[in-house]
Amino acid sequence: MTDRTPSSSARVWSAADLAADPHRATDKSQRIQRMFGAIAHRYDLNNRLHSLGRDQAWRRRAVRLCRVQAGDDVLDAACGTGDLAEAFASAGAASVCGVDFTEQMIELARAKATRNRRPGAPRPTYKLADIMDLPFDDASFDIVSIAFGIRNVADPARVLREFRRVLRPGGRVVVLEFSQPANPVIRMVNGLYTRHVMPVTATLLAGDRSGAYRYLPRSVSTFADRETLAAMMAQAGFKDVSQHPMTFGVCTASLGFVAC
Ligand SMILES: C[S@@+](CC[C@H](N)C(=O)[O-])C[C@H]1O[C@@H](n2cnc3c(N)ncnc32)[C@H](O)[C@@H]1O
Repeated sequence: MTDRTPSSSARVWSAADLAADPHRATDKSQRIQRMFGAIAHRYDLNNRLHSLGRDQAWRRRAVRLCRVQAGDDVLDAACGTGDLAEAFASAGAASVCGVDFTEQMIELARAKATRNRRPGAPRPTYKLADIMDLPFDDASFDIVSIAFGIRNVADPARVLREFRRVLRPGGRVVVLEFSQPANPVIRMVNGLYTRHVMPVTATLLAGDRSGAYRYLPRSVSTFADRETLAAMMAQAGFKDVSQHPMTFGVCTASLGFVAC
């Protein structure tokens, strides 16, 4: 098993890396994998605390937008510790498969999947793989989801094309990602919190040396804005793309469809 103690984490993002655009790093995938390997053990706790308890509600809303039907097969890409996969399992999907390339995150998801669940709810299964090259046949799923993952991949457009490929006719994709609040006052307060408070407290909580919680706000501010993301989804072949801001627009779910 990989050593995942905080002391094993080395710096992944330096101040100079983050002064530039982190999405342009040629070794972005490897850095992201090392970074999540370093913070996995405190990932859920940091999410709950630093979203002020909202992160699970955001995931549940993303699930509701997909209007899960009995018999739906769901792929949760960049599933991390499995919170969104578990939400789909509770919502009545027939099967849920999570994919992620960071072993430490998947191990935590697999541990969650062993918990008791209500009768009839499927147990998510997990695969260690790169979502830029999904290990599934064309038209294998009814729903594909990704939460806080599209920003972290090296080539988001390629990932969206992969999602389109593995979806069946009538399928849905939901992309949940941080976004900038439209209200300038809320944007300013949120900016102060995400740039100056959260990086300090989250880093302490995770005992992190990788720079993950300084990368986080920088990776949001340098990533595609809402409109660009919607255009990328349309470009990948999704129809009727709609966007659903949550908690004053701190995060947005983008929903798209595959034609029947
Ligand atoms: C911020 S976490 C999100 C985890 C989870 N979806 C959630 O809602 O908390 C981002 C995840 O994306 C994964 N990831 C990033 N790039 C990936 C890739 N190319 N293939 C597979 N997983 C990837 C990371 O390993 C990490 O677990």
